[in-house]
Amino acid sequence: MVSRRASSVQYSAIREIFDMAPQGAINMGIGEPDFGPPSPLLEGMREAMGLGLDGYGPTKGLPELRGAIAEMLKPHNSSITAENVMITCGATQGVMTAYQTLFDPAGEVLVPDPGFVLYSPDALLVDAEPVPYYLWEEDGFEPSVEMLKGLINPRTDGIVVNSPGNPTGGTLSKGTVKAIADLAQDKGFFIISDEVYDRFVYEGEHHSFLPYLENSIVVNSFSKCLGIPGWRIGYMVAEKAIIDQLAKINYYAVACPSTPVQYAVSRALEGMDSFMAHHRKEYDSRRRLMTSLLNEIPGFHCALPKGAFYAFPSYDQDASCLELAHALVNSGLICIPGCAFGDAGDGHLRFSYATSPENIRVGLEKVKEVVEGMPRLPSSVCALRKGRPC
Ligand SMILES: Cc1ncc(COP(=O)(O)O)c(C=O)c1O
Repeated sequence: MVSRRASSVQYSAIREIFDMAPQGAINMGIGEPDFGPPSPLLEGMREAMGLGLDGYGPTKGLPELRGAIAEMLKPHNSSITAENVMITCGATQGVMTAYQTLFDPAGEVLVPDPGFVLYSPDALLVDAEPVPYYLWEEDGFEPSVEMLKGLINPRTDGIVVNSPGNPTGGTLSKGTVKAIADLAQDKGFFIISDEVYDRFVYEGEHHSFLPYLENSIVVNSFSKCLGIPGWRIGYMVAEKAIIDQLAKINYYAVACPSTPVQYAVSRALEGMDSFMAHHRKEYDSRRRLMTSLLNEIPGFHCALPKGAFYAFPSYDQDASCLELAHALVNSGLICIPGCAFGDAGDGHLRFSYATSPENIRVGLEKVKEVVEGMPRLPSSVCALRKGRPC
């Protein structure tokens, strides 16, 4: 009935949790900011309507937006020009376009586990093989370069990296970014770097793969940093020759990104830094609140996440993450079971702090009530559950 490809992928466990949620449940499962767009963006959109920007635009995106993004990125790599930028309908499309452009059937793609829900299914949809690389809480969810080296073989076509990371909130250090870029150069594979949370870094600064474009495609989005996930707009940065290839896929997939939305975003880029500085401060304080309340729950452990807007605690209750997330949703709190992000996510739950401090307080009180009295595992069994020797 349907293609082998279509039947090789399933809806993510996230959808199931939202389907189960009772009316009025507190939503800490959410993957979008709770702030709306800045006013210059809304004005830009109204202007675009008045200008009658209703036609198709260039496949690579409007030149003025590509140019403005290139200018914005120059502090990371001064050689970036509009020719290195292509506009997409969000990072979701960007990741898929990168896969379709780079990977052949039977090639291997290294994907973070736990990692964002697109990376493995997208590989299956291009007949490539996703190979998980594991991220551990005790390493700050940062991959070890030695471990990555051990996974690389002649079939390795690429690696996906995501810093700051969803669901872990982990970030890559400058040294790890360089080491991965050197490895890609040495072994001849490509890096797809998903940097949609680059403006949500609370400790130190964001380390981008933009300086390493000879081996990287950087995928980004305006969904999170302008509070417009429903507008479906993002961008990719790569060497010009790669952008030309990506554009062919863009043409066959979407023809072009939305013209009025691009116009509006080009009007809002200038104010994005101060807009995000304000919201980052608020999210930082929620991050601290959430982490300290999580650590007050018996059996829960959560290190302060460095970026994005998720906490990813481990727990020692004798329940799978699915059982625990189901019990929580039945009590009126939506959070996401760690296993939705890969096998190494079991023993964790993902809580989003893109919600009010009041919701964070009430929601985490519910967690305390639900886990109270649940049997707990000894630490040796806990370590085994997380796949690590005791
Ligand atoms: C890591 C990561 N990449 C990509 C996306 C998708 O972004 P977009 O809305 O631009 O498609 C998300 C959304 O939650 C995400 O968390």
